[in-house]
Amino acid sequence: MNYTNIGNFPKTKLQWLWENMKGSRGIYIAGMLGTIVYNVLQLTVPYYSGKIVDLFLSGADARENLRTNSNLFYHLLICMVGFTVLRGVIVYVDCMVYEHVSQTVLYRVRNFLYDKIQRQDMTFYSTYRTGDLMTRVTGDLDAVRHMVAWVIRMVIESFSLFGAVAIYFFYMNWKMALCLLIISPLVFFIIYLFKNKVAPMHAKLREKLAQMNTYAQENISGNRVVKAFAREDYEIKKFDQANRDYADTNKATGMVWLKFFPYVEGIADLLPVVMLAVGGVFLIRGEMSMGDYVAFSGLIWAIANPMRQMGNIMNEFQRFSAASQKVMEIYYSQAKIKDAEDAVAHPERFDGKIEFRDVSFQYEDGDLPVLHDISFTVQPNETIAIMGETGCGKTSLINLIPRFYEPTKGEVLIDDIPIETLKLADLRKQIGLATQDVLLYSDTIEGNIAYGDSSIDQKEVEKFAKYSAASDFISKMPEGYDTVVGERGVGLSGGQKQRISLARALAVKPSILVLDDTTSAVDMETEKQIQESLKHLDFPCTKVIIAQRISTTKEADKILVLQDGHITEAGSHEELLAKKGYYYELVRLQTGIDDAVVENSANEE
Ligand code: GTP
Ligand code: MG
Repeated sequence: MNYTNIGNFPKTKLQWLWENMKGSRGIYIAGMLGTIVYNVLQLTVPYYSGKIVDLFLSGADARENLRTNSNLFYHLLICMVGFTVLRGVIVYVDCMVYEHVSQTVLYRVRNFLYDKIQRQDMTFYSTYRTGDLMTRVTGDLDAVRHMVAWVIRMVIESFSLFGAVAIYFFYMNWKMALCLLIISPLVFFIIYLFKNKVAPMHAKLREKLAQMNTYAQENISGNRVVKAFAREDYEIKKFDQANRDYADTNKATGMVWLKFFPYVEGIADLLPVVMLAVGGVFLIRGEMSMGDYVAFSGLIWAIANPMRQMGNIMNEFQRFSAASQKVMEIYYSQAKIKDAEDAVAHPERFDGKIEFRDVSFQYEDGDLPVLHDISFTVQPNETIAIMGETGCGKTSLINLIPRFYEPTKGEVLIDDIPIETLKLADLRKQIGLATQDVLLYSDTIEGNIAYGDSSIDQKEVEKFAKYSAASDFISKMPEGYDTVVGERGVGLSGGQKQRISLARALAVKPSILVLDDTTSAVDMETEKQIQESLKHLDFPCTKVIIAQRISTTKEADKILVLQDGHITEAGSHEELLAKKGYYYELVRLQTGIDDAVVENSANEE
């Protein structure tokens, strides 16, 4: 797999995240500072309540103080309430900041990924399954969003709260602080052990999710096959298995923390005990005031909670890590087939000369070459027909013209320009392609025909439909050209789909028209009609036509016969008949008549 540069990204995950916060970094930093501030502000309540207890509630002079210095009492009370309100406001604004930035990052990365995926080459699409890609732009990206919106905030919250309280504890009574904090490094050690255990679980979990999504996606889009073979029960079972796998892995991942949880919880629960025992002794010995004791007790949670939260944070961090790995794989993937750095623009039409020079080709994931030393030339406006048994390499050959793949040897030239020196968009805009398996969009018939050039008007759409012998059946449909066809053209017959696909290829008025078995599903009569209109298009156009029927190929200027990736015969209908090879046999087979008649029919042409 050339697209998976696992662990080999130019940036670390956090650097990558930072890069994608561009434009929101300032506000995000402000948000992080806000988190620190509102956590430090947590100290104000115990601080002021400690003061109030010491001055006005406990101690010998409490009553006296309240009478003589009630102003200070109210001052402390107002400060306590004021800071609490202020803290509430900061938390509120802060939440908005995190949500805003995380959605901005999500939006940006999702668009970027979509753009990347759009621009990938064919090998990419045969490498990645749709369900897996969908998981990356949905579930995985959400884990990235969660990192920005929640995990980072929690890390800062935990550390700032812990840090502030630790400092405050030392400021109040360093001995007491030391007794409470001495056990905290143990928590980090436990979390470290937890991380090592849970990281691979998240990687696995993410794979299971992608697996489940892939099953669902393939099954839904292939539902017709499922129904045809009455395999519903089998598919339901298959999905159930994937679903169970995912649920089990999810459960197992959750369980990992349960193994470590008792230790962390135990340490956290130990804190109040230490407080009671050691604090009590200090209190009795007079080494600590009642106010300080209240402040300590009131803040014990602020060091216990971050400890408890650590497991959760680490869990979410590992989820982010596994997901961002998948997202970054696409983010940093590079299409192999792309514009060369010095690619030449060619906005104007081609004359339409096509030349293959010694072209050999092998799929990257294939074991053997599919095409061997293919050489031929088609002059502008000529028609070339390609024939050959199934699997002999016809589709592979024409896929080299729009540079869907690149030859492993030799080169393809259009108008004597090597196509790899042209800008891809300029090259492909000039090629009208009707692929072997027709894919229509869930859109109106008009929308489908005008897909390659949405600027053409209704009249032109109708003209191209006429060229492809589609206008008759379209006008018979209830809403004519406005009829919406279902996903992948559901609601149309195979031959109807092919004709719309042909109209779509013609509608870009291409300099080169490539038809891959486009009339295989239409009847002879309609095919003849299409042949006739292709001869009289109102724009110049070189045609490359893959076909099995002699009736389609015999009028071509040149016919290529491919066998196992080699050109074995090349020439006009008459020339090939005279050769008495594969083509000749094909004619005999298809016309069902003997040699003499075949030759006669050739002479008549
Ligand atoms: P029909 O359309 O059936 O008439 O065949 P074709 O002549 O168009 O054959 P095509 O060019 O599609 O395939 C030629 C050979 O390449 C076959 O042996 C295929 O198995 C192989 N092939 C086609 N597509 C791929 C691909 O994406 N990857 C790999 N590895 N092999 C492929
Ligand atoms: Mg094919």
